[in-house]
Amino acid sequence: MKAAKIIIVCLLFAATTRAQVATDAKMNAFVTTLMGKMTLDEKIGQLNLPGAGDITTGQAGNSNIAKKIEQGLVGGLFNIKSVAKIKDVQRIAVEKSRLKIPLIFGMDVIHGYETVFPIPLGLSCSWDMGEIEKSARIAAAEASADGICWTFSPMVDIARDPRWGRIAEGNGEDPYLGSQIAKAMVRGYQGNLSGKSDIMACVKHYALYGAAEAGRDYNTTDMSPVRMFNEYLPPYQAAVDAGVGSVMASFNDVNGMPATANKWLMTDVLRKRWGFKGFVVTDYTGIMELTPHGLGDLQTVSALALKAGIDMDMVSEGFLTTLKKSLQQGKITQADIDQACKRILEAKYKLGLFSDPYKYCDEHRAATEIFTDANRSSARQIAADCFVLLKNQGNVLPLKKGGTIALVGPLADNKENMPGTWSVAADFEKSISLLQGLKDVAGDGTKVLYAQGSNLDADSLFEERAGMFGKSMHRDHRPAAEIIRDAVAAANQADVVVAALGESAEMTGESSSRSNISIPQAQQDLLKALLAIGKPVVLVLFTGRPLAIKWENDATPAILNVWFGGSEAGDAIADVLFGKVNPSGKLTTTWPQNVGQVPLYYNHKNTGRPLEGPWFQKFRSNYLDVSNDPVYPFGYGLSYTHFSYGDLSVSNSSLKGNQTLMATVTVTNDGPVEGKEVVQLYIRDLVGSITRPVSELKGFQKIDLKAGESRKVSFAITPADLKFYNADLKYDWESGDFVIMVGGNSRDVKSAKINWTK
Ligand code: BGC
Repeated sequence: MKAAKIIIVCLLFAATTRAQVATDAKMNAFVTTLMGKMTLDEKIGQLNLPGAGDITTGQAGNSNIAKKIEQGLVGGLFNIKSVAKIKDVQRIAVEKSRLKIPLIFGMDVIHGYETVFPIPLGLSCSWDMGEIEKSARIAAAEASADGICWTFSPMVDIARDPRWGRIAEGNGEDPYLGSQIAKAMVRGYQGNLSGKSDIMACVKHYALYGAAEAGRDYNTTDMSPVRMFNEYLPPYQAAVDAGVGSVMASFNDVNGMPATANKWLMTDVLRKRWGFKGFVVTDYTGIMELTPHGLGDLQTVSALALKAGIDMDMVSEGFLTTLKKSLQQGKITQADIDQACKRILEAKYKLGLFSDPYKYCDEHRAATEIFTDANRSSARQIAADCFVLLKNQGNVLPLKKGGTIALVGPLADNKENMPGTWSVAADFEKSISLLQGLKDVAGDGTKVLYAQGSNLDADSLFEERAGMFGKSMHRDHRPAAEIIRDAVAAANQADVVVAALGESAEMTGESSSRSNISIPQAQQDLLKALLAIGKPVVLVLFTGRPLAIKWENDATPAILNVWFGGSEAGDAIADVLFGKVNPSGKLTTTWPQNVGQVPLYYNHKNTGRPLEGPWFQKFRSNYLDVSNDPVYPFGYGLSYTHFSYGDLSVSNSSLKGNQTLMATVTVTNDGPVEGKEVVQLYIRDLVGSITRPVSELKGFQKIDLKAGESRKVSFAITPADLKFYNADLKYDWESGDFVIMVGGNSRDVKSAKINWTK
């Protein structure tokens, strides 16, 4: 029986491989024939990706671009919205250009299209790969219905520094979780790339963009290859393994060579080591920026980028304007250009654009498949699963219906900031504010009093920035004490106070680094005044980064972190506040006590002077003025119920070779309601040929338990889970002792020690 199964699987595999070889051969023949007809200018034109200018600046289509399209000097366009506009532009390419090569249309569809899901950092906190894949699937369905066939997502940059504003766009600090999410997103966007709702993904920002020095955007990174391979590169590789169609080069310098000109990254690692077959695009003006990086003029850096392995030039027009000259001068070869051109044409072929350039331009779909009730209800449910309950002393939450709630804070009655940083296709007017959501869910029997209570900050810097991106905040020009007084008056009449505080959407995201990661002082003052009344206060925290909220945590009975939850955020938050949904999100970043501890991450090295050890207290790896502890560890998040963990049992404490170890723990819901728990598996490799982290996430399961229910949760561990890149960058495991840990977060675990030899 087993043998028969194996034979069937082998036959299926062989058949699939044969079919793939045949498709590849067909594509190859098509592209080779087409390239045979192309002039040098037309080939270089395929490598050119201008921005449409239309979304970001509000200007209409650029006629200069139309002329270039006619001449075959454009390969694609990005951030142009609507099926009608895209169809018009595509028509120029396929009717007026000599060879009628269709354009690809890209967009930053990062966490949803018009139906917006939580920011990626929030989505990652669901630890639910099915939901994450579904969010990408819905985003692809909506974007493809509106003419888009390529998204600049997933962003999988590991980030351990909350000063860096783009931490909001990624999946947190862990390479294992980041890799699972990278795969889920690629699957969700691409499907098998043949359907009308399948769009091409672009994993970014390759590489190490999240390791920018001092958390300052676009800043330098310098890192040992061992650290890169073990901690930062795995999510990009996971996306490649999942078949991602394109890769975006990052802006930053990597060990002395910016990624855009880094041959080692783009060719040696990406193509030779990982076998990537798609195309590489620069980030916005990535080639031009090589000049201020200090690598030479536009001609020099364009040649460098092409030679390094870049195929498509976003915005700089360095390829378009200089490659011909570089070819004539022998600085690049015809083969370099042909190779890049071939990769772009192959991507268009895979998307089916040569068979039907209007495959993604279906007015009926555009009218019926975007921002639908079904998509919005998925977004609401997924958002609720991303919120993280950070504290709930005295069970202030869930709120009871009936009575009076005072809703205060600058983020309470605001629609525009709900979707979060990357929501280029969204209509902010359509998103649901928290005030609206509370009213929707509480119903008529509950009185909701509202007062703004404070501005975002004492000065208007953050508000102006939010306004620039259409996410305006209302500014109250009265003295702060007067604004607070209104909120205190509302709170005095209420049974419970809900304070919607934190960051606005544009305080994180691109070019939004902060050196101070606290809640702005004006809002802290409001919170202090509310706490002084003595009524129960719930802090609903909006943020795109881990914030330093030690005093807020010490002083406030309940804190629900809601990130930026997308277009349905208001309703989703209210669902959780009233207990319609039991929170189950778990943090994917460590939350520091203060910015001086940064970078603080759970999977750090032990050092030679750890806290536990014989050293005299002062001479340990610590600070004089703060402990090494975070406020909330990686993996942390509470529920309206309570889960207890029994002892960890392992199937064997001494293993040899390719065996499988079963690690089992009984998890009990010993609280009052049904709830979901993310059971997490960590491993520590106690002795290695190089130093190893004190803990590494190696698996997780999200389980649903009824009140009173217990379940045995088992993890199957094999030597593959023990592998790491050694000093020679060889990926293997080493014999020795290991600690297996299972728990509800990275700090509170049950553990067992084992020995495993080769
Ligand atoms: C960002 C990318 C984005 C690109 C195109 C850049 O500024 O770094 O993440 O995909 O713009 O909009």
